Amino acid sequence: MKVDVLLGLQWGDEGKGKVVDVLTPRYDVVARFQGGPNAGHTLEFDGKKYVLRSIPSGIFQNGQINIIGNGVVLDPVLFREEAEALEKSGVDLRKVLKISKKAHLIMPTHRLLDAANEKAKGGAKIGTTGKGIGPTYTDKISRNGLRLGDTLAPDFKEKYEAARNRHLAQLKAMGEAPEYAELEARWLDAIDYLRTYDIIDSEYVVNNLLREGKRVLCEGAQGTLLDVDFGSYPFVTSSNTTCAGACTGLGVAPNKIGEVYGIFKAYCTRVGSGPFPTELHDATGKLIRDLGHEYGAVTGRERRCGWIDLVALKYAIMINGVTRLIMMKSDVLDGFDEVKACVAYEIDGKITEEFPFTVDDSRIKPIYETLPGWKTDMTAFRSEDQFPAEFKAYIDFLEKKLETPITIISIGPDREQTIERHLK
Ligand code: GDP
Ligand code: IMO
Ligand code: MG
Repeated sequence: MKVDVLLGLQWGDEGKGKVVDVLTPRYDVVARFQGGPNAGHTLEFDGKKYVLRSIPSGIFQNGQINIIGNGVVLDPVLFREEAEALEKSGVDLRKVLKISKKAHLIMPTHRLLDAANEKAKGGAKIGTTGKGIGPTYTDKISRNGLRLGDTLAPDFKEKYEAARNRHLAQLKAMGEAPEYAELEARWLDAIDYLRTYDIIDSEYVVNNLLREGKRVLCEGAQGTLLDVDFGSYPFVTSSNTTCAGACTGLGVAPNKIGEVYGIFKAYCTRVGSGPFPTELHDATGKLIRDLGHEYGAVTGRERRCGWIDLVALKYAIMINGVTRLIMMKSDVLDGFDEVKACVAYEIDGKITEEFPFTVDDSRIKPIYETLPGWKTDMTAFRSEDQFPAEFKAYIDFLEKKLETPITIISIGPDREQTIERHLK
């Protein structure tokens, strides 16, 4: 068996949580492979809304196994908050959730370092989620990290204290002397809580499940344009959000990758700083934000909004080897007279369809094609036969430009508001 991967093609918040939940009944296992509580994945069903940060979006279906892979960074305190809230709402988490021994731990001092790094950058700050993601992955790569499996060893406390002291020295050098005693006590408490979960050698578990013929869906976090290698560096997150991240973040070999679902919004958003060539600073941008409720699921920050960017999407499809596209939130554009799609960039007078090394908004002029709007409320539709001609034309246009079939169209936040299309 091969694993299927579902990942974001833009700057995150494409609607991954919703679609993973919708697809889960077809799988036996759902696994997160990178990122951490910087993610906020929203699911809606039966009139209720849930936001998941570290826990995979497969937990609300029928007892599928959910795995937090080695590529994920885990904050025990936030994990505990999330897990306890889910248990309160009736999810028997311990029955379905397994966590990799090799997942790295976010310490309180990682969060303090995240804030200090941002402060030091001043106007050039990344606008991180403040969850300690960068410093935790930095420790992982510099071979200083603490892993979940370490919590099971007798010398864990010493290892923790050594790491904490190293961080405190770094903070001191940055002029920071934060209070950490209370944060530390809560964190150590949460470590005890975390230890009560099923902590596994996830690379063996995942490969054994595949050998048994089980179907595995890997759930990405963030989006391709936030990838540490291929995103709009340095305004990115600190992990590989792209398909290759599923290999390193779960221990799945490249030849075991099956379908790659690439998910995008019918427009584009970004939260935090960094370039965004099709950003709209006008009333249309504000209208998209209002209609799409574009505010961060984790931080509540306003999301920047703009037209769909096919240059960036084509790049993301290439990097990930996307085989099936999923388009979200087309309902947000239901009332528009016309919609625009960026088909090329003009950079310093030259036209290109490639995503450049330096993504500099002040030098990039997006070239748009304008398509007629469909002016139809589609939120109650349940089949593609109901789509108006203009919307069908819009989908055809996107499929031609992107050379990849759009197999799912989401027309609202609820599970039910999902239309599947036959593969052409
Ligand atoms: P994720 O991080 O990729 O899982 O996405 P988020 O949950 O951060 O953001 C997506 C937002 O859009 C959430 O509030 C979802 O409930 C909502 N959403 C998902 N699909 C649709 C859709 O098709 N239409 C509308 N209007 N909202 C959607
Ligand atoms: P989901 O999984 C949108 C952004 C932050 C910031 C940059 C770096 O919900 O799509 P970090 O805290 O990771 O060091 O921040 O990345 N960012 C996200 N934006 N959706 C996310 O996750 C994000 N996770 C991080 O806003 O610009
Ligand atoms: Mg999100």
